Amino acid sequence: MCGIVGYVGEKNAQDFLISGLKRLEYRGYDSAGIVTLAEDGEATLIRAKGKISNLEEKMAKAKRSDKTGIGHTRWATHGEPSERNAHPHKAGKIYLVHNGIIENYKELKNELKDFDFQSETDTEVLAALIASFYKDGEHPLLNAVVQALKLAKGTYGIAVVSENNPDEIVVARAGSPLVIGVGHDETFVASDASALVGHTKQAIYLNDGEVARVTKNSVEIKTLNAEPVSAKVEEIETNLAAIQKGGYEHFLLKEIMEQPESLTETLRGRIHKEEGTVRLGGPGLSEAELRKIKHLVIVGCGTAYHAGLLAGYYIEQFTPEITIETVIASEYRYRHAYIPKDAVALIVSQSGETADTLACLREIKKQGIKTIGIVNAIGSTIAREVDGGTYVHVGPEISVASTKAFTSQVIAMVMFGLTIAQAKGVRSSMLKPYIDEIAVLPEEIGKVLEEATEPVKRIADKYKTYEHAIYLGRDTAYPTAMEGALKLKEISYVDANAYAFGELKHGPLALIDDRFFEVAFLPKGDLYEKAISNVQEVLARGGKMIVVTNRDCDLAVEDVVKITTDIEIFAPILMNLASQLLAYYMTTAKGYNVDQPRNLAKSVTVE
Ligand code: F6R
Repeated sequence: MCGIVGYVGEKNAQDFLISGLKRLEYRGYDSAGIVTLAEDGEATLIRAKGKISNLEEKMAKAKRSDKTGIGHTRWATHGEPSERNAHPHKAGKIYLVHNGIIENYKELKNELKDFDFQSETDTEVLAALIASFYKDGEHPLLNAVVQALKLAKGTYGIAVVSENNPDEIVVARAGSPLVIGVGHDETFVASDASALVGHTKQAIYLNDGEVARVTKNSVEIKTLNAEPVSAKVEEIETNLAAIQKGGYEHFLLKEIMEQPESLTETLRGRIHKEEGTVRLGGPGLSEAELRKIKHLVIVGCGTAYHAGLLAGYYIEQFTPEITIETVIASEYRYRHAYIPKDAVALIVSQSGETADTLACLREIKKQGIKTIGIVNAIGSTIAREVDGGTYVHVGPEISVASTKAFTSQVIAMVMFGLTIAQAKGVRSSMLKPYIDEIAVLPEEIGKVLEEATEPVKRIADKYKTYEHAIYLGRDTAYPTAMEGALKLKEISYVDANAYAFGELKHGPLALIDDRFFEVAFLPKGDLYEKAISNVQEVLARGGKMIVVTNRDCDLAVEDVVKITTDIEIFAPILMNLASQLLAYYMTTAKGYNVDQPRNLAKSVTVE
């Protein structure tokens, strides 16, 4: 989704803006732009459709040594991707970059009849509104921004500069993140702390309803109602290596391969194999509060939703007298669902900024229900608004397709379930197999990645021309199938859908023909034989099936991915690695952009 950067200091602003925008490329965008201001206020505005490299080409012909500027990567919402619609937008002497949506932009536009609009965007309307309020006096830019924002409805993270005030940037947020990086004689602005890594470790996260005037050595924050806010400076934990490819061709492959380490970080200090216990500090619930939990509502979107589904299957296996409902945030936010008072909601989000998930969190809190975040991005909005939480600590996930976060989200939620079970007095012999397997899971993931990579690569090559796929599983292998299908469709554009094995006869079986291949997940266990019968039904209709299993497989299927492991309970998580690799290698075989699939963005901050 859109990205914002800004710089005011002693160094070349263009250099920081371009490098910052490149850091935000992973979020997805279709155009980009920067504006810088010389000491006398002369502005240089450069915008380009498409990749940042296009912007750089234009910048090479307009090199400046200006020391103040703002930049943006745009993911189109109002108006097609084009140079005209790219940010920064100019109104008089004002330049604005904006993430989010100004919902009442049409009404505001009607009021601004004299302004000659150049674009179709809501952002240009906000720029014109700010310009209309600009009047000389103390802090004229700040005052103009505040007056305009009081009229604007919707979500925004903005950065604004003016030719009249070339040594300051004004920023504000409502529903779209903004972070201010504090350096020595320089201050940075970004919508995502990863743009600041390597420049400063000191960050101030703006809260909704706050606006700040930023110069090279000052940050003044106040609310839109003019109440002063004392800035809380926090440490940025990310290091440079975490946001680089580290020798891999794509971030996606790096992120798949680093799961042994990223899961180890999730488990650190939390899983105690010898004692057979799990200890989570973050949720902040007492034993008595944990004992009282009767319902879990798990909320997420996309992969986070699938992680919630899978975790729900596990938690209900070992936690008595508890009901679990895993819901899609974009649906749940508009349902009139009653949540019992003895419920706890798990809010699952890698980015911690997903608009629908955040909206659910706020609704659920209004009902007085305790909320626990299962979040990756430290300091993100969801992480700050939940009552308690467990960070998954997988480090930055740059590739648009979520992989390492999924694995750790599932396990983080299962660990939370285990703490409930412990508090409810579930026998430790019942919980031990889960804890034992979780403790060795990082190592097993490493082994499976090593074993499965080559076979999956060959299979991907074999099926690379197919346009349809069906993923199948039962029980814990069903959410696994759903996640596998999502991964394949989002990066390789194969029309992949998942079904519970038992649902086949209720409709999807009619699809089977030679345009499709099928991927079946067959973990050892009570339901293995039942799943085999379903496999036979598909084979009898000419299906071309890839079986992913941790058993010896003598089925007459096209291909088998053998998962060699002693792990049984969490075998579906290991099988999901095969799905991740299959999606990756199908996509490289087809020659598509692995890390930035078309039409998608990493952090979905609009509804
Ligand atoms: C799929 C994917 C998305 C995200 C979803 C939620 O690979 O990445 O489906 O899982 O947009 O994002 P977060 O977890 O940031 O809330």
